[in-house]
Amino acid sequence: MKSYKIALIPGDGIGTAVTEAAWEVLGRAARGAGFGLDGTSFPWSCDFYEKTGAMMPADGIETLRGFDAILLGAVGWPKRVPDSVSLHGLLLPIRKAFVQYANIRPHRLLPGVEGPLRAGSFDILCIRENTEGEYAGAGGRVHNGTADEVAVETSIFTRKGVERILRFGFEQARKRRGKLASVTKSNAQKYSMVFWDEITARLAADYPDVEVANYHIDAMAARMVMAPESLDVVVASNLFGDILTDLGAAIQGGLGFAASANINPERDAPSMFEPVHGSAPDIAHLGIANPIAAIWSGAMMLEHLGEAGAAKAVMTAIEAATARGIGIEPGKHKTEDITAAILSALG
Ligand code: IPM
Ligand code: MN
Repeated sequence: MKSYKIALIPGDGIGTAVTEAAWEVLGRAARGAGFGLDGTSFPWSCDFYEKTGAMMPADGIETLRGFDAILLGAVGWPKRVPDSVSLHGLLLPIRKAFVQYANIRPHRLLPGVEGPLRAGSFDILCIRENTEGEYAGAGGRVHNGTADEVAVETSIFTRKGVERILRFGFEQARKRRGKLASVTKSNAQKYSMVFWDEITARLAADYPDVEVANYHIDAMAARMVMAPESLDVVVASNLFGDILTDLGAAIQGGLGFAASANINPERDAPSMFEPVHGSAPDIAHLGIANPIAAIWSGAMMLEHLGEAGAAKAVMTAIEAATARGIGIEPGKHKTEDITAAILSALG
């Protein structure tokens, strides 16, 4: 029997509960489709940091390299470990080390879920650059603590990085409704964003079947609220994509539904799948975290592994549960009840 090696990093807060739920659903789907999922769980988290002084062991990246995929819950517990330490010690190094340059985030309403907008039908795939741009981590501080203190954080846009994320966007548009929206702010940022626009225009010639539109980030924020049905694939830099995908999560009914995949399209290192939501320490022990975003991310993992049938079965089961009103209202159903509804729909 075919079997995939999956690294599980439940992480912090509600990350553990939603990962457990996703793992149960994925296991059931795998059995149904006749393949195996062989999971190894790693306790890397803020707990781990308090015990060892690091978010993961020094050879953590090398350990993960041997897996087919990584399923991650959430990282961060700011009251215990500063986010700048926890995220730069675990989540962000994995994205960069494994060149997971495409962060894919689907935004659409599940059946039964009422979003805050009038528009009832939209289906947007946000593609966020995930390894450079504004989150490259290039910068520093001098004259610390004095009145002359200076902090500099430089965005890094490379031809290679911009080209590959745009190409990825064009390819996705081709597989969907053939529309690509490229998001920049080239009216104000005249180097990096003009560079991005130029590369978009040049690549467009290779994809004559894809309809390309350029938007500034501010206009795109308004469009996602006013006319989300006009959008298909949206491609943006790391920071802009980060912000737009929380907006996307909001219009799809909340972060409890927002799934994501950090993809290495060349497949020369594992990709990582995680819900967009964070660790939510405030509700961590209440048992009410919505596992749907994590389970949906798991479905994206199955799809990436080439198990499209099982991925579809998981999505259909999520949709059957939400159509019955399960998991559509924050706090109304327990994590375990939502998981049970999805498991029973899976059969
Ligand atoms: C996300 C998160 C992370 C990001 C944070 C926690 C660093 O907000 O996945 O969207 O911005 O990449
Ligand atoms: Mn974010």
